Amino acid sequence: MELIKLNGIEKTYQMGDISVPVLKGISLTVERGQLVALTGSSGSGKSTLMNILGCLDRPSAGEYWLDDIATSQLNSDERALLRNRKLGFVFQSFNLLARTSALENVAMPLSYTSEPLSDGEIKKRATEMLSRVGLADRLHHLPSQLSGGQQQRVAIARALINHPPLLFADEPTGNLDSHTSEEVLQMFERLNSEDGITIIMVTHDPKVAAHARQIIRMDDGLLQNSDPPPSSAQALPGELS
Ligand SMILES: Nc1ncnc2c1ncn2[C@@H]1O[C@H](COP(=O)(O)OP(=O)(O)O)[C@@H](O)[C@H]1O
Ligand SMILES: [Mg+2]
Repeated sequence: MELIKLNGIEKTYQMGDISVPVLKGISLTVERGQLVALTGSSGSGKSTLMNILGCLDRPSAGEYWLDDIATSQLNSDERALLRNRKLGFVFQSFNLLARTSALENVAMPLSYTSEPLSDGEIKKRATEMLSRVGLADRLHHLPSQLSGGQQQRVAIARALINHPPLLFADEPTGNLDSHTSEEVLQMFERLNSEDGITIIMVTHDPKVAAHARQIIRMDDGLLQNSDPPPSSAQALPGELS
């Protein structure tokens, strides 16, 4: 079952009178339960494509179906709702609120849910998610009191608090040393295999891409090739339907 289908996606930025074509016709599919690396050299268009996949930006041309929803027909409110329900995001720079504890950072997206939760329920869910990423003993630490790897794990817990089926990570290990990178990547592998979360991580680092099961290589706004995903016979346990 495919979660993502792109057909002929193009993105051209307009800089005054000059058109800058960045994505030049991208077609691909990603199956549910995949762990994908979107790779390619700096400037090849990885972040531009991720912003489109994450419904943060719209393509100039082409079609994008996410979970069978034709996203090009959605207005900005509908896209925001789709992001809230189905997508989590993790960035290179963690993007945590500085004067806010790990627990409050993780709880933040719960205040935007359609049905309000009690304070006790919010605290319980955020605590559970921080335990899931191995930070049960760091609930009340501020970001500045945590290591880089711990901060990224807080960001991952925050991204997953609404249980999205799809997680995007743009250069998630870009600010981490190699040992800590390895820990974060192992966490992605576990979330993928145990919880069935589909993960798309953007990276220019072949060592990071080696953790993925599908590698999508970009070169100057086009796909170089796309390794075929494993056949359905190898579908993962716990895969979301
Ligand atoms: N908002 C923008 N306006 C104009 N050009 C942009 C914009 N965002 C990205 N680009 C250009 O698009 C190309 C691809 O950028 P990007 O998607 O960030 O690549 P990558 O993430 O692979 O390094 C670059 O040449 C960049 O300068
Ligand atoms: Mg980038």
